[in-house]
Amino acid sequence: MHLHRPVLMLVAIAQAFPLTAAQPVRARRAMVVTREDHATRAGAAVLRSGGNAVDAAVCVAFVLAVTHPSAGNLGGGGFLLARLPGGRSTFIDFREKAPAGASHDMYLDAGGRPTADSLVGWRAAGVPGTVRGLELAHRRYGHKPWAELLQPAILLAKSGFPVPYSLAVSLRADEKLPKFAESRRIFLHDGQYLKPGDLLIQPELAQTLERIARLGAAGFYEGETAQRLAQAMRAHGGMITAEDLRNYQAVERKPLEGSYRGYTILTAPPPSSGGVVLLEMLGILENSGYEREGAGSAAAIHYAAEAMRRAYADRSQFLGDPDFVQVPVARLLSREHIARWRASVDPYRATPSARIRPGAAVPVSAASTTHFSIADAEGTLVSLTYTINGNFGSGVTVPGLGFLLNNEMDDFAAKPGFPNNFGLVQGEANAIQPGKRPLSCMTPTIVLHGNRPLLVLGSPGGARIINAVLEVILNVIDFGMNVQDAVNFPRFHHQWRPDQLDVEPGISPDTIRLLEQRGHRIRKLKPFCEVAAIAFGDGWLEGAPDPRVEATAEGY
Ligand code: GLY
Repeated sequence: MHLHRPVLMLVAIAQAFPLTAAQPVRARRAMVVTREDHATRAGAAVLRSGGNAVDAAVCVAFVLAVTHPSAGNLGGGGFLLARLPGGRSTFIDFREKAPAGASHDMYLDAGGRPTADSLVGWRAAGVPGTVRGLELAHRRYGHKPWAELLQPAILLAKSGFPVPYSLAVSLRADEKLPKFAESRRIFLHDGQYLKPGDLLIQPELAQTLERIARLGAAGFYEGETAQRLAQAMRAHGGMITAEDLRNYQAVERKPLEGSYRGYTILTAPPPSSGGVVLLEMLGILENSGYEREGAGSAAAIHYAAEAMRRAYADRSQFLGDPDFVQVPVARLLSREHIARWRASVDPYRATPSARIRPGAAVPVSAASTTHFSIADAEGTLVSLTYTINGNFGSGVTVPGLGFLLNNEMDDFAAKPGFPNNFGLVQGEANAIQPGKRPLSCMTPTIVLHGNRPLLVLGSPGGARIINAVLEVILNVIDFGMNVQDAVNFPRFHHQWRPDQLDVEPGISPDTIRLLEQRGHRIRKLKPFCEVAAIAFGDGWLEGAPDPRVEATAEGY
């Protein structure tokens, strides 16, 4: 990239005097960063005892299914991005699928209006992919015995763990869990709400995990677990059948690869929109000089928000499951397309979203997804994001099985052109079809400098995920922050529709005024997204858990 002299100076100063308000967790050989401390410690123990990062990821994912039930899961799906010691990278897609009985208009009422069925209850769930995905990753790239990796999760489910503050608060606040008897019994203790520090014991979940430990994914997609799930679905008007479960396959895909200022970006291909949108935004920002006025300046936020607006507009129309629709990835990431978008940005004035593409506006709600990042001593890197979509998914716990089901069907366009729960407007490319995967924003990402890793990162946060990942990358590469500062730094978010710029606390009132003067409609939000990142440099691994939540990092 061509840098103007003052920009060069700024970058040089930033690198010589990096902002170091916060310190990451440093270690020499290996690192695990997750949302929850039992999971972090279990993952680090796997690495210490000779497992690789894929083994640790399998272990962490099962532990989070126990200790972080609002997002960690057996009943959802996700993506695992890995870079292997020889330099090859891979992407395991275990996104949920629409059941065979699903149809284009299944969530519309007689008047053609979207209903809440895609969000709450038995009909909201897609066919879960997590267990199949973890098994595929382990079979291809893991070393340790499968059953051993499930032991920490089984123990925590059987013996219980002290409920952290945030879980106690979110259990009490959730509106879906009280609607379903088994969820009410297990997670709400029939109204005797768990207080922080109380033990949450989950014997049914322990038994489900034991079947998976013994039989592999067959212990979930066949036999007792599958039978109970299919039976409960039939009894409650749900769609998932025993055949849907048996037929579910995770797939290995080629990660999406792009570049930014000489760094290589490995990220999520469709059916995630994350990688395409991330690379479009980076493309629009590269060579723009947007960073000139510094991190957190109104000028930099404005420009980045304009890049977000444009890339999310493309998302709404062109992206969907590549097994069902032609996704024009090459065209969206072409030099010409990105140059046109960049040329359309006015550095002093917000472009109204209506002038980019028409749509409708609704509020954006919370998501329940979680991300963790792992690096082992041999050089394997894992960036894994998985989800049950909304907080506590559909709210449904399958009787006798102990796990919550996702409400991922809402990630489809229930009515193309109308916004979903995240306010995302999406097109026919993401309409419901049997067996199709809903479009996702999950963006597990790895950044390399030459052959050397620079960052492993990702985040939950629904529509905001892609921007949280973008901002951490920019904070490190363009603003010279250490990874912990980059994660901590106040975030902002634009998604084209609704035409508003969301800002976190910490973005100053005068910056907000300057943004308003440029034409942005500002919405002040509570902190959002939880990035889990690892950075590499000077012989150290730096783990950056997000202080917005009770995340932790451990290395050795
Ligand atoms: N359910 C959130 C996402 O996949 O983007």
